[in-house]
Amino acid sequence: MQFDTVIHGGTLVTSSDVARGDIGIRDGRIVAVAENLSGGDARIDAGGRLVMPGGIEAHAHIAQESSSGVMGADDYLSGSVAAAFGGNSSFIPFAAQHRGQSVDDVIATYDARAARSVIDYSYHLIITDPSEAVLQDQLPRAFARGITSFKVFMTYDMMNIGDGGMLDILSVARDHGAITMVHAENNDMVKWMNGRLARAGLVAPKYHAISRPELAEEEAINRAISLAKLVDAPLFIVHVSTAGGAAIVQREILAGTRLFAETCPQYLAFTRDDLDRPGMEGAKFVCSPPLRDAATQAALWQHVKSGTFTSVSSDHAPYRYDETGKFIKGRDIPYPQISNGMPGIAARLPYLFSEGVVKGRISLQQFVSLSSTNAARTFGMTDKGSLAPGMDADIAIWDPEATRVMSLQDQHDNMDYTPFEGLELTGLPETVMTRGALITHKGRLIAKEGQGKFVPRAPMRLLGDGYLAKERDPAQNFGAQI
Ligand code: URP
Ligand code: ZN
Ligand code: ZN
Repeated sequence: MQFDTVIHGGTLVTSSDVARGDIGIRDGRIVAVAENLSGGDARIDAGGRLVMPGGIEAHAHIAQESSSGVMGADDYLSGSVAAAFGGNSSFIPFAAQHRGQSVDDVIATYDARAARSVIDYSYHLIITDPSEAVLQDQLPRAFARGITSFKVFMTYDMMNIGDGGMLDILSVARDHGAITMVHAENNDMVKWMNGRLARAGLVAPKYHAISRPELAEEEAINRAISLAKLVDAPLFIVHVSTAGGAAIVQREILAGTRLFAETCPQYLAFTRDDLDRPGMEGAKFVCSPPLRDAATQAALWQHVKSGTFTSVSSDHAPYRYDETGKFIKGRDIPYPQISNGMPGIAARLPYLFSEGVVKGRISLQQFVSLSSTNAARTFGMTDKGSLAPGMDADIAIWDPEATRVMSLQDQHDNMDYTPFEGLELTGLPETVMTRGALITHKGRLIAKEGQGKFVPRAPMRLLGDGYLAKERDPAQNFGAQI
């Protein structure tokens, strides 16, 4: 057999297995997995290394305006380079609709932005204006292009579409085989808390954590699940930050609800005490939902271990610690005016490997599931997330024994800080390839700008009979076909 590249001598890790073997690659695909493959125009020695499916980052804000209109620091070049140095061979950032904007226009805008990417990409489509034209014509056109996931917000005044809007989106998504992602926080609870804190003059960064109560997340998760059940639509809860929220997800999955969820390294690594760092340093840790406490960290790790979460994503939302980002509205500002979000696209997988695999919390196979395979299956990247013959040669080679202290300079993003600065890591990605082409290798960027390709994604195949609320069942609702 002819190979363009052979990766030899490594330990192959998939979501199910760990075994010695070589990988043969031709025309961007894996064409052989076997012992002692000879040949190959190029040969990569993976002795002592782990050879895994490249990471798939399923939650990142790249070249995207925030909920208050602030452009993040990373474009598709810096964002994709940072992702690759962090072990990812593809990613699915968001393409965000502004109210009044057509979905066709949103996609055209992001196509132009994403043309710089060095790794493969798709978009989750954020819908903030579910008009009839959007629901009837524009979303079906987006599906036809292979954009098979939407995101909606239950918070932020500029994004929140209300329960009726969510039902409309969920229903269209269900009809086409798309999955709806949701940022679940009760907007009115947050606004009420903001008002109380402001009246008391409590506006330092640490009060951000108080302003967005755990109950606000738990209530919204429950409500989002009820809305999804009414239309029998699959739902993905993004950035779960509370033990209560994770327990709801776990309970519903056990009950058969078509539910998926993620948490993020920041909720495992930091607490609300980080928001109370000296001066305005706490601004670096302002994200929504907010950081919680040590008990929550322990509970979330338990849910990571036991399979509640589909994936661990970064929610990379890069706002620099300066007047272009965190302080775009001024230096000494009350917490609600600090730009929301933390960077972490390059830190996600080294963090999960070091704190998860090396510390014995998760297995290597779980690492692959949480970092790649589950995202590929859930979001319809059918050719990615595995090492089987026929799949894209999207591969990350890790040195499980390499050590490093996390620092800004090895993030390769456009940020001026990393919240993970100083964290001692064991296990690092050494080589990342996308469709057989080297993206990064031994600390060097090999890929050229624009090398990444848009990945049309498959619709979600719903298994089982589904759930019909009795009020929507013609046998039980006086025959109404609704
Ligand atoms: O604080 C965060 N997570 N900012 C990014 C936008 C969002 O809510 O996902
Ligand atoms: Zn969010
Ligand atoms: Zn986000």
